[in-house]
Amino acid sequence: MKRITATEIATQYEYMDKVRALAGHERRYFVRTFGCQQNEADSEQIAGMCEHMGYLPAISPDDADLIIVNTCAVREHAELRALSVTGQYKKLKARKPELVICICGCMVTQDSRVSDIKRSYPYVDLLFGTGMLHRFPELLYEELTTRRRRFAVDDTDGCIAEGLPKKRESRSKAWVSVMYGCNNFCTYCVVPYVRGRERSRNPSDILDEVRGLVADGCREITLLGQNVNSYGRDLDDSCDFADLVSEIDQIDGDFIIRFMTSHPKDANRKLIDIMASSKKCARQFHLPLQSGSERVLSAMNRRYTPDEYLKLIEYMREVMPNIAISSDIIVGFPGESDDEFNETLELLSKIRFDMIFSFIYSPRVGTPAAKMENQIPEEIKSARMSRLLELQNQISYEKNLCEVGKVERVLLEGESRGDSNMLTGRADSNKLVHIPRDEVSERQIGEFVRVKITRAEPFALIGELEN
Ligand code: 5AD
Ligand code: SF4
Repeated sequence: MKRITATEIATQYEYMDKVRALAGHERRYFVRTFGCQQNEADSEQIAGMCEHMGYLPAISPDDADLIIVNTCAVREHAELRALSVTGQYKKLKARKPELVICICGCMVTQDSRVSDIKRSYPYVDLLFGTGMLHRFPELLYEELTTRRRRFAVDDTDGCIAEGLPKKRESRSKAWVSVMYGCNNFCTYCVVPYVRGRERSRNPSDILDEVRGLVADGCREITLLGQNVNSYGRDLDDSCDFADLVSEIDQIDGDFIIRFMTSHPKDANRKLIDIMASSKKCARQFHLPLQSGSERVLSAMNRRYTPDEYLKLIEYMREVMPNIAISSDIIVGFPGESDDEFNETLELLSKIRFDMIFSFIYSPRVGTPAAKMENQIPEEIKSARMSRLLELQNQISYEKNLCEVGKVERVLLEGESRGDSNMLTGRADSNKLVHIPRDEVSERQIGEFVRVKITRAEPFALIGELEN
C-alpha cells in the first residue's frame, strides 16, 4: 500500500494554485454523488479541492463550469443512474463547450466502464478512478491547459492521502474515514475490485481530525470503512478498531460516535464492551447479515453462520439492552431456494431488527457470484423482496411503537423533507425523528435537543420538544 508523501500532496496544492491562476472569470463547480457514505466523504474532498482551486459552488449543473459525477458500482441500478445523469449533461456541453465534465468513483474504476465512457460519452473530458482522487488538481490542470480527454485509472491496490482540503456538507455531522478498501471478497461484491486492499489511516491523523471537528462544533462523528473491524491490522502499532473508538471516546466535547460498516465475522466482544462502557457511542449498531441461510452465507463467502451472528446480537443486547440494530439483506442470491429465503425471514422474525436495508441481488461483472449458475429470475427476486419488506415494515413499526412515551436525545438536522412545518433529526438509535418547527429556535438546529416521542410511523418517530 502506498502512503502518498507530503511532497506529493504539496505538488497537488501547487496544481490547485495553478488552476486558480487560470481563471479569467468567476467559475462554478457542481458535484453529483451516487452511492455510499464513503463516496459522500470523497465528494467532500472533491468539493474542498474545487474551492481551493477558486471554484464557487453552483446551485445546479446548468450554471456550472465544472461538473463531477462521483459514481457507485455496488448495484447495476446505481451505475445506470450515473450513466443516465451523465447523459443529461451532453446538452449542457453543447450549449457551453468550455464546460468540463468529469466522472470518477467506483463505476469508472472498472475497465469495461472506462471503455464505455470513452466510446459512448465523448463529451466526458476527464475520468479518474478511486485511486487517483488525490491527483484531481493535476488532472484538471492538464485537461484545462490541453483540452485533451484524459482517462486516469490507477492499477495499484490503493493509497492513503492525508492533508487534502475538505468542504463538509454539514457543520454538525461529519464522516471520518478510518480505513479504505476491503479484503473480504464476498462473492457478490464489487467493492474489493474497485476500492483496493484494506488500508488504515494512522490513529494520530484520525484523532487530530476528530479533535478539529469537535472544536468546530461538530456533534456527530461517523467513522467510515468498508469493514471497520479490520482497522489497524496493517499498522505497526497495535491499535485495533475498539482501541480507536475508545481513544475517540475520550476526546472532550459534546458529540456522538457512530461507525459503519461492521462485518459479523470480525465484530468482537471487545468492541461491544467498549461501546457499552463508552459515554459517546450511539446506542446503535449496523451489522449486515445478508442472508439467514447457512448455505447461502457460505456461497457468499461471508465466513459466519446464522448461529454465530445470532450470538453476537444476543451479546450486544445483553450488555446494551436499549441498542438499536440495523442490517443489510440481499434477496435472490444465485441458487437461493424458497426454503433458504424463508430461513432469512425466520431469522428476521427472531432477531427483530429496528431497520434493514434490503437489496435485490445484482450481478456484478468480475465477481464470482455473477458467474454462478442458477441465477434467480427477476420476478422471483421481486416477489421475495416484497415479502421481506412486508415482514420488516411490520417489525420496524412495532419497534418504533415501543419508543412512544420515551424522551430521546435528538441531533436536529433541519427541515423535514416534504413538510416545511416540521424539523428532522436523528435519535441516538439513528431513528428519524420529526418535531414541529414552531417549538424550536433556529439556534437549536445542529444541536442536541430532548424530544418526547408522541407517535410512531414505520420509518420515523414524531415527537415534541421536552423543556
Ligand atoms: N447486489 C445486491 N446488493 C449488494 N450489496 C453489495 N453488493 C451487492 C450486489 N451485487 C449490498 C450488501 C452490502 C450493501 C452495502 O450493499 O447488502 O452490505
Ligand atoms: Fe463488499 Fe463484503 Fe467487503 Fe462489504 S465486506 S465491501 S460486502 S466484499
